[in-house]
Amino acid sequence: MANVVVVGAQWGDEGKGKIVDWLSERADVIARFQGGHNAGHTLVIGGQVFKLSLLPSGIVRKGKMAVIGNGVVLDPWSLFSEIDKLAAQGVEISPENLMIAENTPLILPLHQDLDQLREEAAGKAKIGTTGRGIGPAYEDKVGRRTIRVADLADEETLDARLDRLLAHHDALRQGLGATAVNRAELRAKLLEIAPKLLQYAQPVWKVMNDYRKSGKRILFEGAQGSLLDIDFGTYPYVTSSTTMSGMAATGTGLGPSAIGFVLGIVKAYTTRVGEGPFPTELEDADGQRLGERGREFGTVTGRKRRCGWFDAVLVRQTCAISGVNGIALTKLDVLDGFKTLKICTGYEIDGTRYDYLPTAAALQAKVTPIYEEMEGWEESTEGARSWADLPAAAIKYVRRIEELIQCPVALLSTSPERDDTILVTDPFAD
Ligand code: GDP
Ligand code: IMO
Ligand code: MG
Repeated sequence: MANVVVVGAQWGDEGKGKIVDWLSERADVIARFQGGHNAGHTLVIGGQVFKLSLLPSGIVRKGKMAVIGNGVVLDPWSLFSEIDKLAAQGVEISPENLMIAENTPLILPLHQDLDQLREEAAGKAKIGTTGRGIGPAYEDKVGRRTIRVADLADEETLDARLDRLLAHHDALRQGLGATAVNRAELRAKLLEIAPKLLQYAQPVWKVMNDYRKSGKRILFEGAQGSLLDIDFGTYPYVTSSTTMSGMAATGTGLGPSAIGFVLGIVKAYTTRVGEGPFPTELEDADGQRLGERGREFGTVTGRKRRCGWFDAVLVRQTCAISGVNGIALTKLDVLDGFKTLKICTGYEIDGTRYDYLPTAAALQAKVTPIYEEMEGWEESTEGARSWADLPAAAIKYVRRIEELIQCPVALLSTSPERDDTILVTDPFAD
């Protein structure tokens, strides 16, 4: 049986949460390996809505182990407020079903401050971040001055870490016109939350390797999307982590051979939140209709998502980079009732045709999408649970996408509800 990695193949919000929840019925362990509480994953189970940010979507099922790996950046206060919110919805969370890697870096209030100060200072050139401190927290990790979960267990270590961290942040804050960090207050806050957090701390790399040896099925849950990847995304309008499939291994402490099937989650059209290039963006009635039918508002910030036609160039590119074996195509139902649909099959830049998105920002800004038109369908696909329920034009649209992105559809989703999902190929099957 293969372990499965789920990654977003566009700009995030592809429906990863729904698919991870659906797949987790057949998994033993569900692990997050990058990102933080910038993610917003919505699950709808029998009409009940669960919104998850940091916790793996498998947490809502009983008897599964949820893991937060070292590749994540973790805001402990936000974690416990999410745990409390879920408890109020009847989901019990304890060290029995959640563990956190000891070497996970923390997001502190000073990271959130810096994220927001920088966005304000950037004015029009802002990234449009979620303002949660994700970028600054990753900077401190690679800058070797972060505080990690295990550091909370020893006051002497914590003090040394705080000294190094605040020397850096106070200088930055001064430059941005903000006051210095209140060290005593931050220290007290950290020591207060330490025992609560430490009860979940584990050498995750070791436990995961044991799970692997004993044949447990692992489902890795990616956050964000491939076009927000720090290396391969539309830089600098990206997030600060590696969102590609390879990160599942280093973000939890397993070797790359632990990754079996890579499932790319792909929305049947395109959306993006925040700033940055978006070749197929629609600012007309079609874009408006996609946003309304797809309820395209961010889970985390409530911002309106920008909407556009399906871009096969970008998805072919991200599927190649993540080594996607099959895709889960979501939100097909949102396209019901469109007379015609457009798919972007290539780009034209300064009279030259491209079959990929070039890296140079100056070229990205000049992309003209080349479209192919397809006939839409009048019938409803909402809630369809088998191919036989799909109109011929919808099947044609799906088949054309497979052809253009050079990757087969393994799953198809036709509503937010868990069970409105069509299985074509089982990703867990070897
Ligand atoms: P994620 O960040 O990739 O987990 O995606 P989000 O949860 O942020 O956004 C996807 C939204 O679409 C959520 O509100 C889901 O409930 C919803 N959704 C997921 N799959 C489908 C689908 O097939 N059809 C429709 N109409 N909505 C879906
Ligand atoms: P899920 O997991 C969509 C975007 C932000 C911004 C950029 C950088 O729900 O798919 P950050 O706060 O990460 O520094 O912001 O990345 N972004 C997302 N967009 N879905 C997400 O997560 C996102 N997480 C970050 O809007 O453009
Ligand atoms: Mg989301």
